[in-house]
Amino acid sequence: MEFRDSLGGAGLLAGARQLFDWLVPGRNPDCIRSDQPEPSVGVPIHNRPVTGRIGLAGDWHGNVSWAMSRIRLFAAQGISTIYHVGDFGLWPGATGEYFLKTLHRACVDRDLEMFIVLGNHEDYHRAAAMQLDEQGWLCLESYPRFRFAPRGHTWIDAHGARFAALGGAGSIDRNTRRIGIDWWPQEELTQFDCDRLVANVRSQQWARVDVMLTHDAPAGLRRFGMTERPAWFTPEIEDYCAIQRIRLRHAMDEVLPRWLAHGHWHDYFRDSWDGLSASGTYYHCEVLGLAADGMRGNAVIAEVLPGFGLGAITELLP
Ligand SMILES: [Fe+2]
Repeated sequence: MEFRDSLGGAGLLAGARQLFDWLVPGRNPDCIRSDQPEPSVGVPIHNRPVTGRIGLAGDWHGNVSWAMSRIRLFAAQGISTIYHVGDFGLWPGATGEYFLKTLHRACVDRDLEMFIVLGNHEDYHRAAAMQLDEQGWLCLESYPRFRFAPRGHTWIDAHGARFAALGGAGSIDRNTRRIGIDWWPQEELTQFDCDRLVANVRSQQWARVDVMLTHDAPAGLRRFGMTERPAWFTPEIEDYCAIQRIRLRHAMDEVLPRWLAHGHWHDYFRDSWDGLSASGTYYHCEVLGLAADGMRGNAVIAEVLPGFGLGAITELLP
């Protein structure tokens, strides 16, 4: 019979095997589990001591005294590498220069290096004038202890963990700011930026990113509500900000991070995301939101675990 010929015998056996593979965790090729590390290979970005611990910091907004207190606390805990998730304090004029100079001096004195993902409140005119170093980081000649991540930048750290950065975000108060003075249109996370991240990850044949550092929170991870709606927060601005979070989420769904740390929303929280890529791959991601300067949860120490993302996270208390 035609029906028996197409489904019976070997066909039925193959179908049962496929069903078994799909149902049993670890045998389903479409399901990526976070407890299955993959071997990490590549060239470390620098020759820092392998401590397995990094510093992570949220928005500093050019606040010198607060930033200095975090640097002192990081150094006291033996941290040599700090990742900053944006609204760092790259700012024009004398106050901006004082911020960079003071922090850089502290980093030299304590043998610290900072890797910074730019946010929305940053001087993008100055960022555009930075030079790329041989590892693809943006640099300021006078401040070699600071390196800034171009959007979509990827790297493997000294512990073998795979990192990706995607900075930028929309300013909800953009209508109250002046272009080139305290607002720069280059804050916008564009589709081009997201495509570059995906292309970078794919060109290195990474199945997943261990740790993704962003300024904004990808859409859908958490509902951020405003308790009041000022006149300057127009529907156009709301859309402008929301579309960037959606782009970020789509990029995240392509590179499947095990962990994602972000700032921008000035709130310290832990969340998780069970995502689905455009090609139908399910994945799980742990999310860490960092608070802003002057707030609890602005800075943490985290263990880096290649193939897993982050391990223990310790909050630096003020
Ligand atoms: Fe921000």
